[in-house]
Amino acid sequence: MILIANWKMNLSAKESGALATRFAEISREAPNIEIWIAPSFTALEVTFKAVRGSNIKVGAQNVHWEDKGAFTGEISLEMLKEIGCSFTLVGHSERRILGDSDELVTKRALHSLKRSFTTVLCIGETLEQRNSDQTLKVLETQLFGVLGALPLHSVPHLIIAYEPVWAIGGRVAEPDDINEAHEFIIKTCNGALNGFTPPVLYGGSVAPENFLPIAKLETVAGALIGGASLDPGKFRDLVSIASRIA
Ligand code: PGA
Repeated sequence: MILIANWKMNLSAKESGALATRFAEISREAPNIEIWIAPSFTALEVTFKAVRGSNIKVGAQNVHWEDKGAFTGEISLEMLKEIGCSFTLVGHSERRILGDSDELVTKRALHSLKRSFTTVLCIGETLEQRNSDQTLKVLETQLFGVLGALPLHSVPHLIIAYEPVWAIGGRVAEPDDINEAHEFIIKTCNGALNGFTPPVLYGGSVAPENFLPIAKLETVAGALIGGASLDPGKFRDLVSIASRIA
């Protein structure tokens, strides 16, 4: 099982280093769980240093589709690789709200995947879309651009994170809703990728109180965790739940 801590724009480099040191200890207690951390760009190097010697992977919260150029405020895959990043998140709903359209997310994801870089593609519907029965259609559209253009060699590097927008930072989705969405994502990927099934992670208010029934779902390969990943006690509890059922 993969647990990704998305620290968003919450921690300074100093705070990230301290939390990453705790994560390294947690990771040693649960060698069967993959722990990945996505700190802010300015905290990448200190996070690497803090987890050295553990099997934690460190990655970025976004990536641009060009190697260099006049793209103020963006970061390239080569820059991330140079400092040792091993994965990137793309299409997080908080990026989409700031203007990343399906088209831009697809460009980001395809660039990263074509370079054989582990890429976590975040997809998910808004509450309005769910209430008007658009969930599966939205997921299909968000997947389609990437699946339809993915070269064969890139397929093993794809990971999907299902994050219903309405469930981020507050209300958790019900296991039945999660299972239905994950089944659909798996079926869609299978159809488009000649039977290949990427790991599908769930994200949205994951916490020790709600994680067990979610983690037990066969369609769930892990979780993308925001708020609870900022608290080492809660994160340790999540890792221990995952470790028990892995
Ligand atoms: P949350 O964030 O766990 O705080 O809901 C999840 C995410 O946005 O990745």
